Amino acid sequence: MNLVVVSNRVARGKASEPMTGGLAAALLPVVEHSGAIWVGSSGRVRDGHQKEPFAEVESLGSGALATLDLPAAHYGGYYEGFANSALWPALHSRSDLIRVSHGDYLSYREVNAFMARALLRFRKEKTAFWVQDYHFLALGAELRQLGVDDPIGFFLHTPWPVPAVMQGVPHHRELIEAMLAFDLLGFQTEEDRGNFLAYAGGDLGLAVEDGVVVSGHGRTRCQVFPIGIDAEKFAQYATKAISHPDVSRLRRSLNGEKLAIGVDRLDYSKGLVNRINAFDRLWTEQPHLVRGISLLQIATPSRGNIEAYGNLQNEVARLVSDVNGRHGEVDWTPIRYLNKGFGQAVLAGLYRTAQVGVVTPLHDGMNLVAKEYVAAQNPADPGVLVLSKFAGAANELDTALVVNPHDIDGMVRAISIAVSMPLTERRMRWEAMMEKLRRHTIRQWSAEFVAALEKSRSERAAVAPLASQPPQALRWLRSAISGVRLL
Ligand code: F6P
Repeated sequence: MNLVVVSNRVARGKASEPMTGGLAAALLPVVEHSGAIWVGSSGRVRDGHQKEPFAEVESLGSGALATLDLPAAHYGGYYEGFANSALWPALHSRSDLIRVSHGDYLSYREVNAFMARALLRFRKEKTAFWVQDYHFLALGAELRQLGVDDPIGFFLHTPWPVPAVMQGVPHHRELIEAMLAFDLLGFQTEEDRGNFLAYAGGDLGLAVEDGVVVSGHGRTRCQVFPIGIDAEKFAQYATKAISHPDVSRLRRSLNGEKLAIGVDRLDYSKGLVNRINAFDRLWTEQPHLVRGISLLQIATPSRGNIEAYGNLQNEVARLVSDVNGRHGEVDWTPIRYLNKGFGQAVLAGLYRTAQVGVVTPLHDGMNLVAKEYVAAQNPADPGVLVLSKFAGAANELDTALVVNPHDIDGMVRAISIAVSMPLTERRMRWEAMMEKLRRHTIRQWSAEFVAALEKSRSERAAVAPLASQPPQALRWLRSAISGVRLL
């Protein structure tokens, strides 16, 4: 099968190159091993309306990477606007940060339509499209408009919120109806899937049968596929990275002191402020841990042109400096705060050096840092993961110290338990988590999704779409019958 994977951000295949976030790192081995073609943004934009979208194609393992210059006139409205100032805050249940602009939605739809046209170039016999993440919610509908009748699936890497939050997104109804053009919708957790189905059944008034939404587009199966990692590869990176200069310098600098590590994009969903407040309280209330444990916080700048991100960068920088000013000594820095990214090969070594991994987002689809931290540990002397119950990973990694990131005292307790946890308990907890990571790898995740996509497509083809009416007409019909005008 000719598998075409689509995402906004792509990775270029070097373990030494920094990667922003989980999606790019997760998809890289999928493409390298499956022979798929991965289509995404080049990070550059172009003026004018190209009839034939420009694509650069290079090989990536047994697969290929094709990058497109997105349309200059619409890029800002698409990426910083609709995707990251309306959808992202909503998906992370931050209705207060949703910024609405009609022009942004149009740009978002334009870029989705542009991508759909570009994808036609990669279509061959027996093609399946696998669209990733919230940047391309309307891409399935755009492909169908162009007459594509191949299997088209979608996987959401973020959470999906309760219907009331989604209602804060401009054009939510039109957009979510467009999502039903996909044959298969994949979610990270049962909760996300349940929230989506509640919207489809409630707000759209559609029939939902056993996880399948029946709409004017046909039948759309909604299923949970928790994303995994290549745990063995990460463990190998961690062993090798011991000799990497950054890792050995870090080890030398510790002088027997323990280390906690946090690795995040600088994003308000990651709970950085609460985490730093927890360390502040830890050093205040348990002074024996001053010089006993320090925090290495890697916070890669992200989406810096968006106001909420600029504000967060300032807030975290001020907070770190305040905490360091109060608890620091001439020869001791409580928080080492780095605003840059690292490649996976080095990160694995940094994770292995830290006795505590702190992954405490306020809300996160999965959070692959949690899984990577576990995979990178030394089996003979593993560190302890302190994990937010609001990360999708907490469903699987339930032998971590699971915390509520809003409860600062609870996080303080968990960190101090982690610091002094006996080796036998650390090993027991780590082995249980590692076993799950080994059992459910990134390759299985992609194989399961693709198999389910083929199945959903054939099920859909077997049942005629609901009177082949467009969803808009269907809604009008329903509202006319019930005498209620839908907004
Ligand atoms: O699902 C979230 C995601 O796609 C992750 O890959 C990553 O955390 C982030 O969003 C990437 O964001 P950006 O491409 O805007 O840096």
